Amino acid sequence: MSDETRPVAGGARTAAVIPAAGRGVRLGPGAPKALRALNGTPMLIHAVRAMAASRSVSLVVVVAPPDGAAEVKMLLADHALPGGPPSGSWGRTDFLVVPGGETRQQSVKLGLDALPAGIDIVLVHDAARPLVPVDTVDAVIEAVRDGAPAVVPALPLTDTVKEVTPTADGSPEPVVATPPRARLRAVQTPQGFEYATLVRAHETVTDDVTDCAGMVEKLGLQVVLVPGHEEAFKVTRPLDLVLAEAVLARRRANDGF
Ligand code: CTP
Ligand code: MG
Repeated sequence: MSDETRPVAGGARTAAVIPAAGRGVRLGPGAPKALRALNGTPMLIHAVRAMAASRSVSLVVVVAPPDGAAEVKMLLADHALPGGPPSGSWGRTDFLVVPGGETRQQSVKLGLDALPAGIDIVLVHDAARPLVPVDTVDAVIEAVRDGAPAVVPALPLTDTVKEVTPTADGSPEPVVATPPRARLRAVQTPQGFEYATLVRAHETVTDDVTDCAGMVEKLGLQVVLVPGHEEAFKVTRPLDLVLAEAVLARRRANDGF
């Protein structure tokens, strides 16, 4: 697709990097998590569709399991929107596939390295959050456009959280503190970033972090939260598959989609 026909709402070009290289150990034995089916369609395809559903996203980079890049390219081609070009693009959204790394952080870096010049905003979205609604995606992009260097969708916690001294042998764990729940948020993806900020974070922060926004915090920059969505939950354990398929069944019943 030429640059003239590509939507550039707000003048910014937005790409989504989807880390999908994890094995899914907590889900139990089977194919890599991102390739497991939800109502017959691989989880990764749902996640790519969720990003492509935003009119602002012009490129999706999928970070595939290290030995699964060829399979992921075939899956994307198989599930391309009807009428779109045969490969490399779903209608107005282009896609790239790169092999991932040992950790989520490494996989995201490999995805960032694959971005072409001219990207202003990057979303990082877990393949394991296949059902995030497009309104959440757009709210994150909008907050980055409005000037925030890093934006994270998040929800209040329902469970009270205890800080403990972990024990390795399964014996009861001593509680150290109970942080006030009203001040805590559970964070989701897509997390949105100014391109240059995220690249700098990946170049300079070497600590282990579980999300990209944590790296930006370590640069001393202000990360902000916008409301997340309950359907943006992460498929982690077997029961999450049941919930995800129930959400899809409800959507199909509600709007025939
Ligand atoms: N991920 C990745 N590369 C890795 C590890 C994780 O791209 N080396 C991705 C996963 O594919 C997933 C996202 O990061 O989309 C969030 O990770 P998580 O939910 O922990 O998935 P897994 O690591 O696959 O699951 P588990 O930790 O249970 O093995
Ligand atoms: Mg993991």
